Amino acid sequence: MTTSLPRFTRIAGTGSFLPPRRLSNEALVRELATHGVETSDEWIVARTGIRARHFADDGVASSDLALAAARQALDSAACTAQDIDLIVVATSTPDMVFPSTASIVQNKLGIHGCAAFDVQAVCSGFIYALTVADSMIRTGAARKALVIGAEVFSRILDFNDRRTCVLFGDGAGAVVLEASDTPGILATELHADGRYLGILCVPGTVAGGKVLGDPLLKMDGPAVFKLAVGVLEDVARSVLAKASRSESDVDWLIPHQANLRIMQSTARKLKMATDKLVVTVDEHANTSAASIPLALDVAVRSGRIARGDTLLLEGVGGGFTWGAVLLDY
Ligand code: ACO
Repeated sequence: MTTSLPRFTRIAGTGSFLPPRRLSNEALVRELATHGVETSDEWIVARTGIRARHFADDGVASSDLALAAARQALDSAACTAQDIDLIVVATSTPDMVFPSTASIVQNKLGIHGCAAFDVQAVCSGFIYALTVADSMIRTGAARKALVIGAEVFSRILDFNDRRTCVLFGDGAGAVVLEASDTPGILATELHADGRYLGILCVPGTVAGGKVLGDPLLKMDGPAVFKLAVGVLEDVARSVLAKASRSESDVDWLIPHQANLRIMQSTARKLKMATDKLVVTVDEHANTSAASIPLALDVAVRSGRIARGDTLLLEGVGGGFTWGAVLLDY
């Protein structure tokens, strides 16, 4: 007997989790001032749209945030952890050098045996993870997958560098993906260009029992900004063309939540009304690989995104990496 392969992968449920400690810009500005770092709520809001971020307490790891988001996604998909046969975690702030955060999440969920691995594509990580899981489901390697973006970026921030430490936050978002004969994910596209690895990096590692190099985030913000607006427009047009859809078919644009100005500029270039843009950067800041599934879950739970809506998800980040996923929710 031959079983036919599923034509599509669909999102069966979403979930997210933010660590409870919320720091408004004002609170962060006060904290930074205690060690001589000058910034202001006005500067942060005007340049980025960020008003607050959440930071995990000491001892809380990416896998803890991932687990909470995963449990919510399982509930919303009306399934149990035992139904899952693939776990992919997108993170640049894993619990350990190894094993993968996905293996740790699997263990915390109390399920054993299914494939579990991490994807490292910084802020494009969730788009990479979704694309890999979609391919595995459509080739029959898995039937139901947990795809998670989880980060504790607060651990790799240099709180003496005002150009970066005000921009990031911690959190996790997750989706349950399942095989389906109806759409589903319509088109995906991934890119990377290693020539730009120096404009956004954490140039350190562990060797001989010590940290080798610098383990804190470095970013050339203006260079990232310039590249981001170009690639986000190109990759959006590309996935739309692959699926024979147009900008006007998109109900919701969910870009990586790094900077409100980048997101608005992308929407303008694609001639999409800004009220089609899902924005959570104001409350979450940039949570790297977690930002897209977090924004998706917030918009689903608030009732803005409904079943049948067409969503365009777009990621961009260190590597330099970028990509997009077009789907019918
Ligand atoms: N508070 C006050 N002043 C500041 C701060 C701050 N927190 N940070 C920088 N400044 C000052 C600078 O010192 C500079 O002053 P100067 O002109 O006297 O030297 C001035 O503000 C302008 O600095 P720029 O860096 O040129 O500011 P810009 O308008 O480019 O905004 C920003 C900076 C917000 C970082 C922007 O470039 C940006 O958003 N870039 C993209 C970031 C991004 O998208 N990252 C996504 C990927 S993240 C990932 O993959 C992990």
